Amino acid sequence: MAPDLREFVRDVPDFPKPGILFRDLTPLMRDPDGWQEVIRQLSAVCERLQPDLIVGIESRGFIVGTALATAVRLGFVPVRKPGKLPGEVTGVDYALEYGSDRLEIHSDALADGSKVLIIDDLLATGGTAAACAELVAAAGGELCGFGFVAELAALEGRRKLPEDQPVESLIIYS
Ligand code: PRP
Ligand code: HPA
Repeated sequence: MAPDLREFVRDVPDFPKPGILFRDLTPLMRDPDGWQEVIRQLSAVCERLQPDLIVGIESRGFIVGTALATAVRLGFVPVRKPGKLPGEVTGVDYALEYGSDRLEIHSDALADGSKVLIIDDLLATGGTAAACAELVAAAGGELCGFGFVAELAALEGRRKLPEDQPVESLIIYS
């Protein structure tokens, strides 16, 4: 029987701040059967959505995205925090609860109009994934959906994502 992914997630109260219940996915990554199941389920998402490339968001999205890209034999494109990519970059600034942040991608990475699946470990408020979708469009890519290992549904992150795009989360916390 396929392992139940939820059983591998560790709930850590009051991290990183009092009152926050942090869903820690590292025990899931540590378990070979649990992790294989994550990649198997996300591979099925790729089978359905048929991306040309996997785009992963720094840093935990790299762990999930590169494992998936290797499994489905697709290329991987990193979306990074500012100042890390050596080539010409396209960037998007986005608002946080306090202040703002920025994501960057190599300008030539999607310039051929590649169809991309955005991958991250977790969907919370949706600000990061929404900014990444904007970035994909700005860089000339075509989005075909989002894949997350876990989603904190109470934060309504989906509402920030483009309405016409499929959002696939393997574990949904209500
Ligand atoms: C976490 C997580 C997502 C993002 C989700 O990353 O990995 O990328 O937050 O939050 P949101 O939906 O509210 O935008 P974090 O910024 O902590 O960086 P890390 O992956 O480098 O730990
Ligand atoms: N788990 C992992 N990453 C997160 C969380 C969480 O509960 N909340 C915001 N980023």
